[in-house]
Amino acid sequence: MITIPQKDSRIGVHVDEFDAMTAAAEDLTALKQLIYTDRIVVLRNQRLSPAEFVEFGRRLGEVETYYQPMYHHPEHKEIFVSSNVKEDGAQVGVPQTGKFWHHDYSFMPRPFGLTLIYPQVVPQRHRGTYFIDMARAYENLPAGLKAEIRDSRGLNSVRRYFKIRPTDVYRPISEVLAEIESVTPAAAHPTVFTHPVTGEQVLYISEAVTYRLEDAAGNGLRPGLLEELFEACGQADTTFTHDNIHLQTFQKGDMLLWDNRSLVHRALHTVNPEPTVSFRVTVHDEHNFYPGIG
Ligand SMILES: [Fe+2]
Repeated sequence: MITIPQKDSRIGVHVDEFDAMTAAAEDLTALKQLIYTDRIVVLRNQRLSPAEFVEFGRRLGEVETYYQPMYHHPEHKEIFVSSNVKEDGAQVGVPQTGKFWHHDYSFMPRPFGLTLIYPQVVPQRHRGTYFIDMARAYENLPAGLKAEIRDSRGLNSVRRYFKIRPTDVYRPISEVLAEIESVTPAAAHPTVFTHPVTGEQVLYISEAVTYRLEDAAGNGLRPGLLEELFEACGQADTTFTHDNIHLQTFQKGDMLLWDNRSLVHRALHTVNPEPTVSFRVTVHDEHNFYPGIG
């Protein structure tokens, strides 16, 4: 395993000569450590079949299958497919996913620690994913904001970005909304938690999903506070020039692995999207997502 830091970037490393199928247990441990400390690892020159990609996920921990079948790979439900390329005239997976700041699965009671993305069809021109390191964002918050969110929790819901499914056509919207609330009721997580590996304090809010902050007794924190936090950390910046925002690019053969505890991310989509297909496998590592999670 050869590790190469990314130039002009605070986060992310490239790793060469890593064989995902034959890597020894200590290599997998070292790889995970690199994900926690450097946030994003780009494994280069990978050639894995879908089955091997799932198997690699299993070697890193417990693979989580996405709760909605429309995202599943037709043969491997553990693979979440983001695609705007039709196969034999049929849609496989879901197009235009993740065009908003989010953590994967923060609207669920038990989010996972690791996200693996394996691009299959790579756009020629506009390519990449935006990231914000929310541990660094917390560290740089003004002391006053830190004090205001101490011992608070955020409520997280998928309701604003739930994608209408083909089977929802002609259903009353009230029925769809009721289903969302029943299948995925809002999940409460600490606004700030301690990263179980690095020990850093992580600000765990996302613009897409977090809609309310409240104190331990359930009283809402002051109006405008959440928006100020999004502003301070960079998630409110629609120009993507905030100092916290990192654009991670990739090429064919790359596999991206990232720390889903400390990073929020957002897909880069353009008005006229080029063909793009990406496979995702998500993994619970051996640590609780945060200390004390239910
Ligand atoms: Fe995502």
